[in-house]
Amino acid sequence: MCGIVGYIGPKDAYPIIIKGLKRLEYRGYDSAGVALYDGEKFISSKTKGKVSDLEKRAEAENTLEGSMGIGHTRWATHGVPNDVNSHPHFSNSGKLVIIHNGIIENYEPLKKELINRGYTFKSDTDTEVLVNLIEDVQKNKGLKLGKAVQVALNQVVGAYAICVMDIKKPNEIVAARLGSPLAIGIGEGEYFVASDASPFIEYTNNAIYLEDEELAIIRLHKPIKIRKIKSDKEVSPYIQELQLNLEQIEKGGYDHFMLKEIYEQPDVIRDTFRGRLLSDQGLIKMAGIEDNLNKFTNAKRIIIVACGTSWHAGQVAEYMIEEFARIPVEVEYASEFRYRNPIINADDVVIAISQSGETADTLAAIKLAKEKGAFVFGVCNVVGSSISRETHAGAYTHAGPEIGVASTKAFTTQITVLALIALRLAKAKGTISQSDYLRNLIELELIPEKVEEALKENDRILEIARIYKDAANCLFLGRGFNFPVALEGALKLKEISYIHAEGYPAAEMKHGPIALIDENMPVIVIAPQQNHYDKVVSNIQEIKARSGKIIALVSKGDEQVKNLADHIIEMPNSTEALTSIIATIPLQLLSYHVAVLRGTNVDQPRNLAKSVTVE
Ligand code: G6P
Repeated sequence: MCGIVGYIGPKDAYPIIIKGLKRLEYRGYDSAGVALYDGEKFISSKTKGKVSDLEKRAEAENTLEGSMGIGHTRWATHGVPNDVNSHPHFSNSGKLVIIHNGIIENYEPLKKELINRGYTFKSDTDTEVLVNLIEDVQKNKGLKLGKAVQVALNQVVGAYAICVMDIKKPNEIVAARLGSPLAIGIGEGEYFVASDASPFIEYTNNAIYLEDEELAIIRLHKPIKIRKIKSDKEVSPYIQELQLNLEQIEKGGYDHFMLKEIYEQPDVIRDTFRGRLLSDQGLIKMAGIEDNLNKFTNAKRIIIVACGTSWHAGQVAEYMIEEFARIPVEVEYASEFRYRNPIINADDVVIAISQSGETADTLAAIKLAKEKGAFVFGVCNVVGSSISRETHAGAYTHAGPEIGVASTKAFTTQITVLALIALRLAKAKGTISQSDYLRNLIELELIPEKVEEALKENDRILEIARIYKDAANCLFLGRGFNFPVALEGALKLKEISYIHAEGYPAAEMKHGPIALIDENMPVIVIAPQQNHYDKVVSNIQEIKARSGKIIALVSKGDEQVKNLADHIIEMPNSTEALTSIIATIPLQLLSYHVAVLRGTNVDQPRNLAKSVTVE
């Protein structure tokens, strides 16, 4: 995810762009840049770091005059965050300049072709490929900017929201989108373009939201022209009157970042497997795994190190890797691992999981494992983070910036990446039948839709939260792949509502927690109609016999548990392994609503930090 802003009109573009970028920083904050047209030429500044770093640099470097410009705040996907990889990117001639939010999946073959034609590249980004592709189309076909962008985009696979300026068109910005958001603000004799309406809400309430595969030609003092990128069909612009205030818009209309991030999950899970999961070909392609396949397939053991929610993702991975790839897995708290002189052999593979890529204990565990000769693979969300640099190889989760301290989308995207890894290894080792393999691939592709369906239970979950918001304790139970989900559900509730909660394997309840059950104890049981269903039903009977209040997560249409439980929350089924992703969603919503009803600071719960860079 990145944030993009553009302006064309009578005002100075620079202050509008900078303010707009600050509002979009929630979308990415590892580097930023701006390009302005000053009446004669483009001037540009960009830097690694925050928008405030850009301001300092831009103001020192340039005069910053100009009433047309574009700006970008980056959340790196291709290429580490550094000055060169920051946007905007210029074409080889310097006549075109672009900002881009998204991923061009086929940038490698396009880049090769452009190199063969004599183009050179300064950055590692997919975006620089796109701007040169547009230039190449312009040159070869003699097309105007809008048409050249359209022809180039027809060769692109992936997702994008872009703004392009051409030195030959001093009053024109061309914008287009596919898969990444783009809004156009219509002011008095001025236009704005942005990833959401927050950069222009103080200037105008009128906006056009571009639809996927639409391209807009935005010219000063002329009506906006929109057409379909594939069919070339003209589209009449639909101008909406925005009702939102600034604060709401920064959270995309959600009350809290956490809720926004919960609802982003269908999209970000799709981003996670985009280009990696090719179910129609029965393939999983992940460069970090392919390049090191032998290390994984020859591993005697995989050790997973992580903290917090990421440790829970590791627990799900243990079940997946052992089930599919038949490699023994141990999951360790990084803080324990680093201090207990663990036995690590050269043929062990260590997987470190971390959203931030900065957690001090996880970093220390990685260093220790490396010292002992292990191959270390990172699963991180933040591109260019310390852990992603410290590991030998890795895979990013592509969840986008997670701002709410309680991790949500980072967890489900971690499981997605780990599922891809487990299945790829199983295929390489021949430990999974072709039908099971394909079924999991197809089901993984359906997870975003199923997560969307699970989110529809929100109202029912809010009702349940109202009933139990004052509980002093809460128990979460699950079996198999859903045991770590129970742990994660309990952690979420603890973190943001401050209710004491524990997660347990359902059968283990008999060895302790059952003593706590009475009519005041809500027990959340994950009970999909899968392998352990009958056993979980027996556990539910045991709770009922002791007057516990049962909130059950069940497969759609389940009747048996419905008759036993006080409340049910329905969810779609998937394969046993992948249901763990779906079952996480209602638990996130439950803890969110309980916390809101209790009036806690949901996004910044007391005593917690998003990234724990100290021991
Ligand atoms: C903190 C955060 C958690 C996170 C944990 C590990 O405790 O509040 O949400 O799960 O750190 O962080 P990491 O960035 O390594 O995943």
